Amino acid sequence: MTFLKAKTGDWECNFHFENNLEDTTMSEEHPVMAPDDIPTIAVGSMNNTHHEEVGLVNVLGALLLQAREGNADEEAIGKALDEWISHTEAHFERENRLMQEHGFPPFPVHAQEHANALDNLRQLQQRWHENHDLDALGSYVFNTWPQWFQMHVNSMDNVTAQFLSNFVD
Ligand SMILES: [Fe+2]
Ligand SMILES: [Fe+2]
Repeated sequence: MTFLKAKTGDWECNFHFENNLEDTTMSEEHPVMAPDDIPTIAVGSMNNTHHEEVGLVNVLGALLLQAREGNADEEAIGKALDEWISHTEAHFERENRLMQEHGFPPFPVHAQEHANALDNLRQLQQRWHENHDLDALGSYVFNTWPQWFQMHVNSMDNVTAQFLSNFVD
């Protein structure tokens, strides 16, 4: 998990983005997660959705780094955050629907993990729009989310895709 190498500390106290480029596949274009670091699973359409999501998070990450350098575009950050969350809602809804349609037995466990993650994201979204807390958002985007996403795709989505690959592309 190369993205962990880039997190030499947390967002609040010690984030050295440029110093870690040699150790990672991340780049300025992919400040949060490189496409190569997204686990590949057995259903192509799910992979496509994951790549789209990482693209949106990288856009948000770039805006956050820019803000950290003193050039904050709070409106653009809010829009990028809203776009990411809308995409995540559609992403989770589709996976939930496919699991139900095709009778995937552990559906409730996977769907619950989606519900919890979306809950966290919506709280973050609300906090951002209330008080523009850059550290809270930056810490979540750079420190919390990449680990959650990789773990979720590697476990829940991976097993789900193995099952769904009998029915969908
Ligand atoms: Fe997924
Ligand atoms: Fe999922």
